[in-house]
Amino acid sequence: MTDKYGRIIDYMRVSIIDRCNLRCQYCMPTDIKWIPPQEILSLEEITEICRQASQIGIKKIKVTGGEPLIRKGCVDLIRMLKEIPGIEQVTLTTNGVLLAQYAEQLNNAGLDAINVSLDTLDPEKYLKITQSDALADVLDGISAIEKYDFPLKINSVLQRGVNDSDWQELIGLAKDRRIDVRFIEMMPIGHGKQFNPISNAEILQKLREHYGAVEEVEKVRGNGPATYCHIPAFTGNIGFISAIHGKFCSACNRIRLTSTGQIKPCLCYEDHISLKEAVRSGRTDEIQKLLLSAIDRKPDGHRFDESEMITEKHEMAQIGG
Ligand code: GTP
Ligand code: 5AD
Ligand code: SF4
Repeated sequence: MTDKYGRIIDYMRVSIIDRCNLRCQYCMPTDIKWIPPQEILSLEEITEICRQASQIGIKKIKVTGGEPLIRKGCVDLIRMLKEIPGIEQVTLTTNGVLLAQYAEQLNNAGLDAINVSLDTLDPEKYLKITQSDALADVLDGISAIEKYDFPLKINSVLQRGVNDSDWQELIGLAKDRRIDVRFIEMMPIGHGKQFNPISNAEILQKLREHYGAVEEVEKVRGNGPATYCHIPAFTGNIGFISAIHGKFCSACNRIRLTSTGQIKPCLCYEDHISLKEAVRSGRTDEIQKLLLSAIDRKPDGHRFDESEMITEKHEMAQIGG
């Protein structure tokens, strides 16, 4: 399906739970109000929406949360999504805490790729950022999935004065391993508003100072908005999701489904269309119509630089990033 700006929309981010086993301040504040369980779509309802979405041209699905692996049946859901005709890729974004436990099952379910959120390799900083001492579990999880053939990327959000000096240690993960390390500019959604984003241009500049010329990577490596470069002698690539300083909305290819069944045309705005009633009453034709109208309502882009224009009031964890 093509939207009114000529963008092909073939990627749906699907948040399957609002809860998380970590508490990164910029994403999941401690006083968050949980969504009552009856409001959350069942795995079958999510699958039905994805089946309808595939019929209007969605080919790639990203399973997100909160933390998707704390939802019972996450692996079963991935298996069900993989069985939908027309869905070419199902990928997962996780904080990695439970990955070691699920690596084999995820592989057996046919998952296509994994992104792990990890902002530091320093246990004390990890504790400060996430309010949890689970760093060793995340590292075990990463090692566990390296045994399989998943493309693996690390997502790091840098905060000035907290982990901005950790970029070099983080990219060390890409030195001898088939891991891409990506830096995400902090976005002014939810508690992310309270932070001053570090520009990815600043990190790229530091990369150049330390490693000399870095090569641009032309080939698109995922389904999202990242751009990539390569440091000679590194195995993996370095990626940049420059949501603020490198607005990528003209190439937007996505819609979002929240765990309560709302389709969001864009991350920046509260505008949404609820599919819950249609899916719960089995009106499948209506689901396709609603999906198409959400695509039709996609704006040309975010307005993260004009705070009064950011109408989205939910936390990132409730949207799924
Ligand atoms: P792959 O490239 O296939 O791995 O997908 P992805 O980069 O979309 O996946 P991931 O879930 O790891 O998202 C990484 C970051 O990109 C998160 O912080 C998302 O919020 C951000 N992101 C993804 N899509 C959009 C978007 O439409 N707009 C903005 N501003 N950020 C996005
Ligand atoms: N800005 C940028 N990235 C964010 N994430 C969560 N909140 C924000 C924010 N405000 C990231 C997480 C995870 C990905 C899904 O989104 O760190 O890697
Ligand atoms: Fe959880 Fe991810 Fe948010 Fe951290 S960034 S609190 S891991 S949802």
